[in-house]
Amino acid sequence: MLVNGNHYRSVWFEKDKIKVINQILLPHKFEITELKNTEDVANAIKTMLVRGAPAIGVTGAYGIALATKKGEDPNEAKETLQNTRPTANDLFRGIDHVMDSLKNLELSHKDLYALKAANDYANRSVEACKKIGEHGSKLIKDDSRILTHCNAGWLACVDWGTALSPIYAAKRQGRRIFVYVDETRPRLQGAKLTSWELLNEGIPHAVIADNAAGHFMRKKEIDIVIVGADRIAKNGDFANKIGTYEKAVLAKENGIPFYVAAPSSTIDLSCETGEKIPIEERDENEVHFIGRERITPEGAKAKNPAFDVTPAKFVTGIITEKEIFKPEEIAKVFKR
Ligand code: MRU
Repeated sequence: MLVNGNHYRSVWFEKDKIKVINQILLPHKFEITELKNTEDVANAIKTMLVRGAPAIGVTGAYGIALATKKGEDPNEAKETLQNTRPTANDLFRGIDHVMDSLKNLELSHKDLYALKAANDYANRSVEACKKIGEHGSKLIKDDSRILTHCNAGWLACVDWGTALSPIYAAKRQGRRIFVYVDETRPRLQGAKLTSWELLNEGIPHAVIADNAAGHFMRKKEIDIVIVGADRIAKNGDFANKIGTYEKAVLAKENGIPFYVAAPSSTIDLSCETGEKIPIEERDENEVHFIGRERITPEGAKAKNPAFDVTPAKFVTGIITEKEIFKPEEIAKVFKR
């Protein structure tokens, strides 16, 4: 997508380094950070300098390519990168995709094949997100008011986005739209990143406090909810940013269609149900502090699960690169 008239991806490989848009500094500073070794890559994923399921999948893929280029053991890099964030299936897909490309290869050729595999994976991920936009835009009528949670835009996805991709496509097709953006405590991805993306695209929107969505739903000011996913289980249950579950329940109560947008790399058929999805627990200081300011009293405890699971019964449809499916159809359509 465009930033000040220049096309960017959120992550790419250039001259023996991985380059990422630094998502910690946005929206106030646009900076590209270079990742020069496996430790840099692991830290960038852990600290959420690069974040969002497809984006960390591609970063993981490039991480293996980088390690291979540096003559490091890709198995060690795999181990380190897999232990950064547990929930997003894409991370494991991206890493495995490049590891598979290295099987049965001579040592001297490994770096070239690894980089080619990582680039292929990134390009396919971008294509999938673009297709999600094409399919999902059919759901967005003129004058639609859409609620989204967290940031499931191009920053989270290399390009286009998942939940935001249909919104970008609808805008390009000339439809009038308005987006309600959940601020998304504690890391505020909605307030900081989704709002920045929508401003860049000239899409009218309002950031709302996380606890305001029910108010707007009950007042019939939201027509459709579209969110991303970090992992979709075989039965259509899915994990996404903490707070998604309550939005889904509220949508059902208010008769509002609730869609999940995700590429096939997010689907994990080895997880029978959402109960099996590992949920990342992050540092409690993310709850205690907003920026540098501590908002809780010294001595208070906090809990900080980064994701929650929404049961399939709350999902109207899953927008994928192939088409829009009912949650129960996922296991038949996608084979791995
Ligand atoms: O903790 P984050 O910011 O990486 O969580 C991101 C989300 O929950 C997104 O909704 C999800 O990864 C889908 S992104 C296209």
